[in-house]
Amino acid sequence: FDLRDTKGQQKIIEDQISAAADILRQGGLVGIPTETVYGLGANALDAEAVNKIFEAKGRPQDNPLIIHIPGPQWLPRYCEDVPPLAYTLARKFWPGPLTMILKRKPIVPDATTAGLDTVGVRCPDHQVTLSIIREAGVPVAAPSANTSGRPSCTTAADVMEDMEGKIDAVVDGGPCQVGVESTILDLTCTPPRLLRPGGLPLEALEEVVGPVAVDKAVTERLKDGEQPKAPGMKYRHYAPKAPVTVVTGPAEASARTILQMVKPGDGVICFDEFAELFKEQEVECLGPSQDKRIQAQRVFDALRAFDSKDAAQIYAQCPDSQGLGLAISNRLKKAAGFKTIAAGQKRVVIGIT
Ligand code: TXA
Ligand code: MG
Repeated sequence: FDLRDTKGQQKIIEDQISAAADILRQGGLVGIPTETVYGLGANALDAEAVNKIFEAKGRPQDNPLIIHIPGPQWLPRYCEDVPPLAYTLARKFWPGPLTMILKRKPIVPDATTAGLDTVGVRCPDHQVTLSIIREAGVPVAAPSANTSGRPSCTTAADVMEDMEGKIDAVVDGGPCQVGVESTILDLTCTPPRLLRPGGLPLEALEEVVGPVAVDKAVTERLKDGEQPKAPGMKYRHYAPKAPVTVVTGPAEASARTILQMVKPGDGVICFDEFAELFKEQEVECLGPSQDKRIQAQRVFDALRAFDSKDAAQIYAQCPDSQGLGLAISNRLKKAAGFKTIAAGQKRVVIGIT
């Protein structure tokens, strides 16, 4: 489908929404647009359909899926003992890039939750996908639509690149407005715990929730045997084929540090202002150093672009951790396997950053 070709013809959009909803009801797979990244959707209540998601992505079976619903009124259908805080957060941030981990009801199959007694739930901020979910009448399990290990998809073309021949359809809802995945907050513990930084800044959550614990996997590479609370956080992730090194610190200092290290033919992911410094390198721009909204939109595209270039290695500038910066730097560091250098230092630190 290509919803941008419809030139406002409501009937055609409605037909495509119905077709996608039909595929979901019949146990098929559909690539769906959301405000964060594209999802690979299936009926979350149909274990057989959900298993097809794992097959298409090559996703490890122990990594649970989040379910997408059209609003908080569906929470009690799938979740047990929903705390009042969940409704407060849903009222404030849904539809939007917040996933809440809650106790699940038995109606949600083990295939969806990877056998956990909790389930991640979110309401995506995309009108077409909300309509598809409502019309299908079932919650939609949807991980990011990339092949496991690759950067997430922020356009329908990215989804086709990874999933063509493996799924029934992709709904093209345009490029994703946020560009990084949802923020995951675990509400089954006290205080609530941030399992993955994402499109909703931690600061915005803390204004409502008070202090939030941050899971170690958000900022550090875990040691062998350590388990993150979000199983997906343990995998090397978002990674292009070439090895990545992240350089932290103020933008000018990190640009200078990269300039001292790069060789001709290496790749560089840098803020727009510094692109011209790297004349003998393959450059992908992350956006202006002061605009994290654009950096979030660009980060996966920049990483993905290097799969069709043959850079020997990639150096990446990285924003600070305020606001969306926590999610952007987490995605870059995960692509680097947490291999980071502080600007001005040559010492490579793997682990605590
Ligand atoms: O923005 C998003 O959240 C996108 C769009 C498509 O909605 N989806 C997404 O799904 O990023 P996925 O599967 O790529 O990432 C979900 C993460 C994984 O790290 C998974 O381990 C974690 O959420 N997760 C899911 N259910 C969980 C649960 N019950 N407890 C802890 N972590 C959970
Ligand atoms: Mg993913």
